[in-house]
Amino acid sequence: MRYSLPVFFFLLLSFGALAQWDDTDRLSKEFHQQKRDALRVLMPEKSAAVFFANPVRNRNNDVDFQFSQNPNFYYLTGYLEPNAALIILKEPRVFDGVSTNEILFVQDRNPTSEIWTGKRLGVDGAKQMLGFKSVYKGIDLREFGLNWSSLNEVMVLYPSLPNRSPLSNAELGDLVDYFQDATMKSKVVVNESGLKPMMNSLREIKTKEEIGLMQTAMDITIDGFKAMIKQLEPGMSEYEAQAIIEYYSKKGGSEYMGYPSICGGGSNACVLHYTYNRKSLEAKDMFLVDMGAEYHGYTADITRTIPVDGNFSTEEKAIYNLVLQAQNAGIEKCRKGNDFRAGHNAAYAVIAKGLIDLGIIKKESEAKNYFMHGTSHYLGLDVHDAGTYQSLLPGVVMTVEPGIYINQGSNCDPKWWGIGVRIEDDILVTDTDPVIMTISLPRSIEELEKMMAE
Ligand code: GLY
Ligand code: MN
Ligand code: MN
Repeated sequence: MRYSLPVFFFLLLSFGALAQWDDTDRLSKEFHQQKRDALRVLMPEKSAAVFFANPVRNRNNDVDFQFSQNPNFYYLTGYLEPNAALIILKEPRVFDGVSTNEILFVQDRNPTSEIWTGKRLGVDGAKQMLGFKSVYKGIDLREFGLNWSSLNEVMVLYPSLPNRSPLSNAELGDLVDYFQDATMKSKVVVNESGLKPMMNSLREIKTKEEIGLMQTAMDITIDGFKAMIKQLEPGMSEYEAQAIIEYYSKKGGSEYMGYPSICGGGSNACVLHYTYNRKSLEAKDMFLVDMGAEYHGYTADITRTIPVDGNFSTEEKAIYNLVLQAQNAGIEKCRKGNDFRAGHNAAYAVIAKGLIDLGIIKKESEAKNYFMHGTSHYLGLDVHDAGTYQSLLPGVVMTVEPGIYINQGSNCDPKWWGIGVRIEDDILVTDTDPVIMTISLPRSIEELEKMMAE
């Protein structure tokens, strides 16, 4: 069907829009409201908390990277557009006759921009879709009627601003300026360190809704891993294998990958965050794939390492089983009350002993030459998620991902050179046993060899 240009634009503005609201399984506005309320409980008397949206980042010339909302901003608002700010007040104030303890500043509607990039929520849309009583245009923050000097302190998390645009109004940089002007004039105390620990403790524990989205992110990533493992063969490039998992992720509804996909064959497996992914895979290579689909903001983080020809050699088997044993020891420590580092300590001890037994190292401290990263991090809106990183609490989701990386030229028998293995799964800490949320993706050599033979 063909439309004349005006009719096309009319259709675009009326319907072709607000694509993010096509999803019916997003976090509810009640979720975001509850998180604002929970933050307010942590805030001191007579304080305000101020958050900003992420900047739009330029890719090159007039092309920007796809916008990704700041996780704290998303967590507290559900707003998916740039150029926005949020003020949360400990105690309510009256603005324009409305008593409120939270004010959202959003991008204004703009028919010209909306022709290019789609419908914006605007003030009315934000009230309706996000459930805020008080929503203003970004420009309104410039002279906003908040008596800042009546507050004991203002806590703020500033964004990093890579590309300022001095010509336009109420872009993120302008919002930061308005805020800084107002707080400087009023001489109120501005606290840049208070909010982070509060957000860390809020975001650390996942609700059922969040765990559901994370499980979806993991399941669609696993669909991709299974397809990739079955299709892998010598001559395939690292990027072709990457494409299979990214295809299944997108097909499953993922908006982005949670981080640049790491697909390293042969010695590239020894580069911890290798993302070049251009090498052609050879039969003798081990192939390390670390990928995670992001679904409605929440990311998976999974690693499997497999032999390109479908069979583990004797040396590969020895290293792989050692990493697997270390991972199991780490997972066993994902229990409430344990220190966050307990899993790492357990995994490190297994790897150190195993490397000594294999003759690769002589003493325990040398294991860090081959296992040079931590074993776990929290997982959520960020792949390395916010959290207190103290003792484990039920509702925490964390990775367990030990690895052994033996570069060419390492100080051991050359038969080990070029082997890099990491195994990474995502674990939910509960009141009882750890739940391996990524359990449906095989880890054992027998299961992987069987899958590769399919
Ligand atoms: N994919 C990054 C990591 O595993 O931490
Ligand atoms: Mn990880
Ligand atoms: Mn990973």
